[in-house]
Amino acid sequence: MSSGEAESPEYDTSVAHIARVYDYWLGGKDNYAADRAVAEQVMQAYPDIVYSVRANRAFLARVARYLVGEVGIRQFLDIGTGIPTADNTHEVAQSVAPECRVVYVDNDPIVLSHARALLASDPAGVTDYIDADLRDPEQILAGAARVLDFSRPVAVMLMAILQHVGDEDDPYQVVSTLMGAVPPGSYLALSHPAKDIDAEAMAKMADSLNKMMAEKVTFRDRPAVARFFGGLELVEPGMVQASKWRPANDAEAASPAALWGGVARKP
Ligand SMILES: C[S@@+](CC[C@H](N)C(=O)[O-])C[C@H]1O[C@@H](n2cnc3c(N)ncnc32)[C@H](O)[C@@H]1O
Repeated sequence: MSSGEAESPEYDTSVAHIARVYDYWLGGKDNYAADRAVAEQVMQAYPDIVYSVRANRAFLARVARYLVGEVGIRQFLDIGTGIPTADNTHEVAQSVAPECRVVYVDNDPIVLSHARALLASDPAGVTDYIDADLRDPEQILAGAARVLDFSRPVAVMLMAILQHVGDEDDPYQVVSTLMGAVPPGSYLALSHPAKDIDAEAMAKMADSLNKMMAEKVTFRDRPAVARFFGGLELVEPGMVQASKWRPANDAEAASPAALWGGVARKP
């Protein structure tokens, strides 16, 4: 496994990849010239992107804390993990309940090269990493069953990933397969870049990303994102702009965030 350092990387650095572009927006160091060029171009089109990605990470942390602390969830399937940064799902979850079990999934080799950081579990819990594609949910479920007990509630986390599954790959069926495999009392938590918040800037952003990046994006509007929660019970405050979902303070609530976010329970 690579240490993820710049010498002799085992992945193509000449084409921008979203995990590394996103890392740049978050202020990380695991990105290359091609990634930075895309990231900077998007910052021109949508200057608030840096606040928006931070608001997404803050949403992820609030959701994990809520699910462990208020709902009692102890198992997570976090798909589209990204390059490890501050407050990864297992760190937040295990800070509340050390016995939490977290399975991470991503299909980008650079994320795989950093998996060691994600595997530093609290000894009372477990973390695991699966190199797999969201478009193959059966493979993910089979791998996750090594660590997660599917007879007990699981929180499926799909944070800022479904925009990489185009309509031709039926993202609704993918989510329905995942939620079909977990028992009642499980949760779906997701965030999704919005087509209808800061619409003009977001359209320019999608255009830049689709011209320059390996993974294509489909931003979706409120009804299209709400459809992912079909058959599930949204918890308060429902599906909202990610920064408005149970914000810890006024500053968090006021952050620009061109993402829809929500958490729902499987009845
Ligand atoms: C924008 S980042 C979001 C990271 C993290 N979930 C967050 O919200 O901070 C999207 C991540 O999804 C991964 N990804 C994109 N398409 C994927 C797919 N089809 N299967 C698995 N992972 C995918 C990318 O490699 C990247 O790490």
